[in-house]
Amino acid sequence: MSEAVRTILQTNAEAAAAPPREAGREADAGFLWDFWYPAVRSAEIRRQKLVTAMLLEAPLVLGRTSDGKAFAMRDSCPHRGMPLSYGRLDGQVVECCYHGWRFDACSGRCVEIPSLTSQDKLRVERIFAGHYPCEERDGYVWVYMSSSSRTASDTSRGRIDADSEPGSRPPEAIPAAPALAVFSEKYKIIHLSCELPSHVDQGIIGLMDPAHGPFVHQSWFWRKRASIHEKAKQFEPIPNGFRMSPHQPSANSAPYRLLAKMTGETVATTIDFVLPNLRTEIDRSGKLWFSSRATVTPVRGDLCRIDFVAAWNLPLPIAIFRPFAKKFLRQDQLTMIQQAEGLKYNPHLMLIDDADRQAKWYFALKANLLESRRTGAPMVHPISGPVTLRWRS
Ligand code: FES
Ligand SMILES: [Fe+2]
Repeated sequence: MSEAVRTILQTNAEAAAAPPREAGREADAGFLWDFWYPAVRSAEIRRQKLVTAMLLEAPLVLGRTSDGKAFAMRDSCPHRGMPLSYGRLDGQVVECCYHGWRFDACSGRCVEIPSLTSQDKLRVERIFAGHYPCEERDGYVWVYMSSSSRTASDTSRGRIDADSEPGSRPPEAIPAAPALAVFSEKYKIIHLSCELPSHVDQGIIGLMDPAHGPFVHQSWFWRKRASIHEKAKQFEPIPNGFRMSPHQPSANSAPYRLLAKMTGETVATTIDFVLPNLRTEIDRSGKLWFSSRATVTPVRGDLCRIDFVAAWNLPLPIAIFRPFAKKFLRQDQLTMIQQAEGLKYNPHLMLIDDADRQAKWYFALKANLLESRRTGAPMVHPISGPVTLRWRS
């Protein structure tokens, strides 16, 4: 057997073994729970409007109380499952459209069951609609998809609190929701999003795939197929992810050349990937900066969504940047739509070195995180130290 064939077979076996699977129904979907995910844009929830979203196959209803606080509940009445989004929001309270049960929007606690008589003993305040932590950042409403929502007895599924007063349990240690890095007081910001008909893993490895650039994103302003050349990039481990160490960006990218020309200083680019789904890129040159974040959020097993936000203080009008970014995203979306056709037939996939090494790291990070959660042992980082990857793009 030739070395090349052996490598391909070996890589095939690795690839097949790569996607981690948790035990249990939700786990089979390959989602990562206990992380923040962007659910909707902040601007979508206003006044008395109830808005629906789906994250990790969980139906959500979101809104804003009269004092401006965003909330997220499971879109299912704990009485008989009516989506709460068909009901109405009245300042602080969400009322189900079916039998009028009323729930405090910020805690999910039931505050009224209209059918009860003075004879009834049911303690309504012990009934909870499913409820999720919720924070707003960078124009998104982020929802913390707690793994405890996967058990029927938890708050996020709706529950009757049998013996403990709600709130008497120690609150889960929940980190702050992610925020885009910005480096000056004034800046421009844009948001774009698109849906991909694929599992979140495919969306993510598509996001971190360096080799598709010259083929999928061919254009005069970005790069041409003829400009493919060999690259060597240094990577290092960071908590829950990896970093492409600060470097001078690719000389064949017009925007970077422009930036260097404007400041007369070198451009340093740092690109991070962090579980569950965040890719951030920061470009800095003198006082000028450009910062962006793309997240790939699982909606269902066969659907994910890219949310892209970028901020900058460069003299770059939004009206110029937006169409380029849109086109770029659209090219990725079209590619993923086409790829989904092929993936329907469950093909064997290959991840090759070094161009697909970041995809392998993603699968390894995910598997090691799940393993550490399962055993309680510290997570083993799949990357032991700085490493240089080489590819042509
Ligand atoms: S289903 Fe919601 S009140 Fe009955
Ligand atoms: Fe792309």
